[in-house]
Amino acid sequence: MTTVICLFNHKGGVSKTTTAFNLGWMLATKDKRVLLVDCDPQCNLTGMVLGFKKLEDLQSIVGTGIPKNIRDGLAPAFESRPEPIRAAECVSIPGNQNLYLLPGHIGLAEYEVTLGIAQELSGSLVTLRNLPGSIRHLILQTAKAYSIDYVLVDMSPSLGSVNQNLLMTCEYFLVPMHPDYFSMMGIDSLANIIPKWRAWAQRAQQLPLLAEASYPFPSVLPKFLGSIVQKYRPRSENVPAKAFQQWIDQLETGLAKRLLPALRQAGMVLATEAYEHAGFLPEKPLLQMPDFNSLIAQSQKHQVPVFALSDAQLEQVGVVLEGTKESMRKFYDLFSVAADRVIAIIDNAASN
Ligand SMILES: Nc1ncnc2c1ncn2[C@@H]1O[C@H](COP(=O)(O)OP(=O)(O)OP(=O)(O)O)[C@@H](O)[C@H]1O
Ligand SMILES: [Mg+2]
Repeated sequence: MTTVICLFNHKGGVSKTTTAFNLGWMLATKDKRVLLVDCDPQCNLTGMVLGFKKLEDLQSIVGTGIPKNIRDGLAPAFESRPEPIRAAECVSIPGNQNLYLLPGHIGLAEYEVTLGIAQELSGSLVTLRNLPGSIRHLILQTAKAYSIDYVLVDMSPSLGSVNQNLLMTCEYFLVPMHPDYFSMMGIDSLANIIPKWRAWAQRAQQLPLLAEASYPFPSVLPKFLGSIVQKYRPRSENVPAKAFQQWIDQLETGLAKRLLPALRQAGMVLATEAYEHAGFLPEKPLLQMPDFNSLIAQSQKHQVPVFALSDAQLEQVGVVLEGTKESMRKFYDLFSVAADRVIAIIDNAASN
């Protein structure tokens, strides 16, 4: 069975894309078949995985034959073509045989408005009824074609209709955050918006028109999988560890006192034991990641996660190389524990 996991925070630059790639790769090394889906029109995940040169190549094959990106995959529904949505052709990621990418497309942004109108659940619905269930349909069709266990969906930093749809039609969501003032503000905003979206999804799930559509609106109740805190310095400021810790403490308070209660009220949090069983508490980060420092540049250069770079790719020698490899092992262990937690929660929920 395929499980769809969204990485969502409308706050930008909190490591959604970087986490999707690194965590997805780690899950794939643990024998899970993983599909990364780039649903951000900025296409950063696609660029990170394929390199920006290949991204240009992808644009030239748009519109011919089998869809090769998210926008072309959705085009039959959004452009009322007389053909059904079918599985997209994904990119097999070099160096990891269990990992695939459904590339993004800047044109996905053009569907925001139409989807927004479709999701208003108003009189215009009859002609637009196939849209609210179409994204999930494309993702599941594609996942089936590649025997995928986990789909990781990278999302744009926005509260637009595509994100509303993605978040309300997934099984689980992760909330990446950054230890700063803006992420704190973001928590309140998430606590406000996610339950509203859930109320919308409940209404959509009850509409016969959407149930009878070619791509029925799915009956899923998305659950909070955990938060992720990345402790890097966004503007190369020299932020002391103590300052980070103060913000991390405040993020945990925000999660415990505001986001989790709001999500619980909406039925979107698992029982506390489910998180404990996986080795953490829901108000604590599922993954806390320090600054990758110089490794991020090599990771981007070689399109390989920070923990999977080879000695040659590190381009270092002697003590410097040994120090870097020590950091890499630390990152490997942290992502490995995070992947184990994700697997434990999902497996446990499936067996109950
Ligand atoms: N742990 C880390 N250490 C160092 N740099 C990091 C780390 N995580 C992410 N970054 C860097 O921070 C920047 C933002 O990360 P990323 O693009 O993953 O965030 P995002 O939430 O996807 O952003 P957006 O909201 O624009 O989609 C990138 O340049 C990335 O390389
Ligand atoms: Mg991103």
